[in-house]
Amino acid sequence: RDAEGQANFDRVIADDSRIEPKDWMPAAYRKTLLRQISQHAHSEIIGMQPEANWISRAPSLKRKAILMAKVQDEAGHGLYLYSAAETLGQSRDEMMDALIAGKARYSSIFNYPARTWADMGAIGWMVDGAAICNQVPLCRASFGPYGRAMVRVCKEESFHQRQGFEILLELSNGTPEQKQMAQDAVNRWYAPALMMFGPPDDDSPNSKQSMAWNIKRFSNDELRNRFVGMMMEQVKVLGLTLPDEEIRFNEETKKWEHGPLDWDEFHEVLAGRGPCNAQRLERRREAHDDGAWVREAAAAYAEKQQAKQSM
Ligand code: 3HC
Repeated sequence: RDAEGQANFDRVIADDSRIEPKDWMPAAYRKTLLRQISQHAHSEIIGMQPEANWISRAPSLKRKAILMAKVQDEAGHGLYLYSAAETLGQSRDEMMDALIAGKARYSSIFNYPARTWADMGAIGWMVDGAAICNQVPLCRASFGPYGRAMVRVCKEESFHQRQGFEILLELSNGTPEQKQMAQDAVNRWYAPALMMFGPPDDDSPNSKQSMAWNIKRFSNDELRNRFVGMMMEQVKVLGLTLPDEEIRFNEETKKWEHGPLDWDEFHEVLAGRGPCNAQRLERRREAHDDGAWVREAAAAYAEKQQAKQSM
């Protein structure tokens, strides 16, 4: 059964086709997908916090409405991704419990503080911009539910990135203080956004296998460099600069290059010792407890419905 299953799995991957939840798959394939998709879902949910802090402080009704819509989208992305992960055999409760217990990873980027309104622009333009760079190739991931979830997520991310760009453009064309606030936010979010793509390729234990299984289509460094190139074009339109003197386009390799990143800081953040890790988890725990009554009510209602149907 396993030999036949493995042969079929290998053929589907070789044909660059899709593995669906009911198909036989190697335990390690299931494990790495559960790992990545659950972490991706956690990132979306935790990622709501830095921006949620600014909904009540938005400078206009228009900005408040746009930011609310974006944060709601992120919640939806989390739900699609938890659903995709559940098809691999782990329940949402198990995934949520792991996050609440501080045992689950989520993207490093959300452990940084959003200090000013301009951070809403920098997060939209840079963090969602990086997310798009990373997520477009994931639309072709070999695991069906993940790839399909990414199609919808990427459509909404484009709106997130555009609204962030527009916030920065408005500030950059505003008073000198507003322009400085925008430049300060870009300076603070640049390096953490580049580290979102993961460690350098020679320090990325999952990449080789993940690429062999058509989950990861491009390496961490490849996508990071592509993202630097995208920002270099757009930052000129913003009339701002990126805080990295070493960015250049290498005519031989035809690749963008950037200055060194602080991987010690990255590993500190992953170890839970970043600027906001404790606060983000605390908030998640509070929200989970505050929402217990909703989950209980929904479960009680579902039970009643089921009892009615079986009468
Ligand atoms: N934050 C936290 N952990 C990270 C990380 C990051 N930015 N980058 C890497 N890691 C972890 C990996 O999870 C892995 O640890 P693990 O084995 O315990 O899971 C370890 O560091 C080594 O990294 P690898 O490169 O070997 O791991 P991957 O092959 O999984 O690559 C990745 C890392 C590129 C982030 C990949 O997991 C991925 O593409 N994930 C899906 C995308 C994602 O999670 N994006 C989150 C962005 S936030 C977001 O989308 C919200 C947006 O709407 C704003």
